[in-house]
Amino acid sequence: MIAHPSPLLRQADNNGRGGPGGRMRFMSAALSLALFAGLPLATARAETAAAPATGAGAGSAAAGEKVFMKCRACHQIGEGAKHLVGPELNGLIGRKAGTVEGYRFSDAMKNSSLTWDAATLRDYLKNPRAKVTGTRMIFVGLPKDKDIDDLLAYVGQFGADGKKKP
Ligand code: HEC
Repeated sequence: MIAHPSPLLRQADNNGRGGPGGRMRFMSAALSLALFAGLPLATARAETAAAPATGAGAGSAAAGEKVFMKCRACHQIGEGAKHLVGPELNGLIGRKAGTVEGYRFSDAMKNSSLTWDAATLRDYLKNPRAKVTGTRMIFVGLPKDKDIDDLLAYVGQFGADGKKKP
């Protein structure tokens, strides 16, 4: 990824000796990395700003919105969300599987007796047809735990009325 490691290292080293305190040193090393890589500064700053949201364990709703692109062909979420190929997903956490009004679920989903929470969604989204055999949701699944964490942070924002919870 780094094309010319030696000037980068020298740069970071100079900052280390002459520069101000630890965090500044890190910041300037990161900045020079970005400069050397030819990235616009705006990108470097945006990444720094996004970092705290992806803290240990918890997912990032912003990243989850991107993961949800994979669901959008079939699912809507948010105010005014409608059923498409799949049901709308407002207020999903805590919802009993196969119960939302106005959508015709498969018998498999109706009879699954699942309640959607972090654990059941994690299993289902990893491999929908393994968790609910006979589901009509034709989706390969999300293999990465981080994608699922992020997705749950995004989906969990929306109450049953489609409004973001305060
Ligand atoms: C190709 C279309 C399609 C895609 C893509 C898709 N789904 Fe689905 N989804 C469905 C269908 C159809 C159902 C109804 C399944 C049934 O009745 O067996 C469903 C059902 C669900 C349910 C159960 C809802 C309930 O009320 O019980 C959840 C949760 C869900 N999908 C989440 C997702 C998420 C999250 C993604 C993206 C990672 C996704 N789906 C991608 C079609 C899709």
